[in-house]
Amino acid sequence: MNLKERIEAVEAEIAAAVATSPEAVEAFRVGMLGRNGKVTALLDAFKEVPAEEKRVWGQRLNQLKNAARVRWEELKAHAETAPAEKSSEVDLTRPALTEHTGSLHPISIVRQRIVDVFARIGYTVSQGPEVEDDHHNFGALNFPADHPARDMQDTFFVQDLVTSSEVPGVSSSAVENDAGALALRTHTSSVQVRVMEGGEPPIRTISPGRVYRNEAISARAHCMFHQVEGLYVDKGVSFAELKGTLDHFAKSMFGPEVKIRLRPSYFPFTEPSAEVDMNCTICGGSGCAVCKHSGWVEIMGCGMVDPAVLTNCGIDPEVYSGFAFGMGVERVAQLIYRVPDLRLYWENDVRFLDQFTVGAFRG
Ligand code: DAH
Repeated sequence: MNLKERIEAVEAEIAAAVATSPEAVEAFRVGMLGRNGKVTALLDAFKEVPAEEKRVWGQRLNQLKNAARVRWEELKAHAETAPAEKSSEVDLTRPALTEHTGSLHPISIVRQRIVDVFARIGYTVSQGPEVEDDHHNFGALNFPADHPARDMQDTFFVQDLVTSSEVPGVSSSAVENDAGALALRTHTSSVQVRVMEGGEPPIRTISPGRVYRNEAISARAHCMFHQVEGLYVDKGVSFAELKGTLDHFAKSMFGPEVKIRLRPSYFPFTEPSAEVDMNCTICGGSGCAVCKHSGWVEIMGCGMVDPAVLTNCGIDPEVYSGFAFGMGVERVAQLIYRVPDLRLYWENDVRFLDQFTVGAFRG
């Protein structure tokens, strides 16, 4: 390497030098300008330069020495200010970044809450299939063959085994009754049949799940919604116990000030049957659109399990009696969250869903 090349190499090294700590700055100084430094070594080499070239190389080497000094000053200044600059980048008052953790769906929150209330008084949770046969959804529950719920207009049939319009006055689906027609279950009462068929009293169970009905979708109706069915069968179960259980449920769910009332009604699978109203939590009883200005809202159906249903499910009605009830989860959720339109539940708009957290439950 001749002198020119050596100078160029050291120049390049000076230009590229970095040092973030005072120790590194000092190492740079020693490596370039110290007694055995690279610049010092070149200055020593100047002595061997022939006299006629001394002027040119003298200038060049002076420039190199200055460049090394300037770079050293720069590195020194940077290493001194760097730690201060760094700490000013940390702003302890800046709001933290929030993680989007998601939230439970309002229907899941309310369903779980209903399950909790009953689990605490000894109810187990049971489930059945959403595609159900006629026997469990209708037949064993005492639905007469020509009951309107068995009509195509109300029920989504999955399998149509008999297409018999020859039977006057009876819908084809009713004819399928014993032929094993399959449908999307129209209520979770089908699960009480499965539980009674599969076990011995005492039975104390609730069955949450999806149900389907052939309804036009609107603010107040949907073709899919959720129900929780309840069933208690044992020796000597009375209507008074039914009423006490539902009163306990309403107070646990909506608050101790809540009152319920029972109105006589009809269901094929219970006798006697009743509809349960609760005083309206939205207006406090003074009247609003949700309670249709009556101060009361309907929250479920209930009754004593019809002895014929017990028999259908292999339980002796001479020995055992029972009560059953069924409620809509969307309805209960509406009374808690005041959601005005059922469709909001299933549109998956994150702005809607984000408002629900378990902690926001006010029951
Ligand atoms: N299955 C009924 C419905 O879907 C609700 C119901 C009413 C369930 C009375 C019951 C009951 O167990 O006893 O409308």
